[in-house]
Amino acid sequence: MPAELRRLPADKPIADLLAALDEDGAVVIEGLLDAATLALLNAEVDPALAAADPGMKHLNPAVAFFFGERTRHVAGLASKSRTFATDVMCHPTLLALCDALLLPACAEYVLNLGHLIDRGPGADAQLLHRDELVWVHVPRPAPTLQVASMIALCEFTAENGATRLVPGSHRWPWDRQPEPEEIAQAEMAAGSAVVYLGSLIHGGGANRSAASWRRGLHLSYLVGWLRTEENNVLATPPRIARELPERAQRLLGYGVHDAIAKLGGYCGMVGLRDPIELLREGAL
Ligand SMILES: [Fe+2]
Repeated sequence: MPAELRRLPADKPIADLLAALDEDGAVVIEGLLDAATLALLNAEVDPALAAADPGMKHLNPAVAFFFGERTRHVAGLASKSRTFATDVMCHPTLLALCDALLLPACAEYVLNLGHLIDRGPGADAQLLHRDELVWVHVPRPAPTLQVASMIALCEFTAENGATRLVPGSHRWPWDRQPEPEEIAQAEMAAGSAVVYLGSLIHGGGANRSAASWRRGLHLSYLVGWLRTEENNVLATPPRIARELPERAQRLLGYGVHDAIAKLGGYCGMVGLRDPIELLREGAL
């Protein structure tokens, strides 16, 4: 019997979602996005996705190998979809989970990455990995630094490569590898999401379907004092960011990380000012 993920409806109390995340390191949230939001988001990303080249140039061969040649990517989603920037990135359920999981280790968390991953027929399974290995210099054990999600923008099935996750692996020694029966697959309807901790082992599944592209949205958040995978301020420059709500601007990294109350300091100032104020004043 393969491992199973817990599945909870999006209107369950946050405490129930947190309990599942604490125990398993991952939880499927059914119906996270309603049908209208899902339709808008899909329509807004369609042009960028149509222009995406599965053979795109990556940073280096290792990144190219990790994603494979049959995957279309659209990163920097906040600059391409207002629905993403307002209703998805600022989704109250996701932010409530981040409040509980990330605020113990920071004054404010930010968007790490908003990245559409469209995996085509024939795409190989991704290497199983932990997202927090990006920040390899952080000594372990460490508090939770990153919270991630994969939001299904179409139905995720075992055949089309639903994300594979290893429940409980957030508590394992970092050198332990899973046995096949310890791996669960996040099959889910469009609009549902699997949320997982940055320390959990997971990876994209192989797409063995004949013609089904598996369109998923990787959305992750990071403690606000650590460098994000995507440079979100450059990806969503001031001309776009100034039209967004302040919460979205802060998530995109425009705000200072203010640890003064903890006898720390500020990160992210411009001319010793908070860039959020400069945006408001039209100075950025
Ligand atoms: Fe990952």
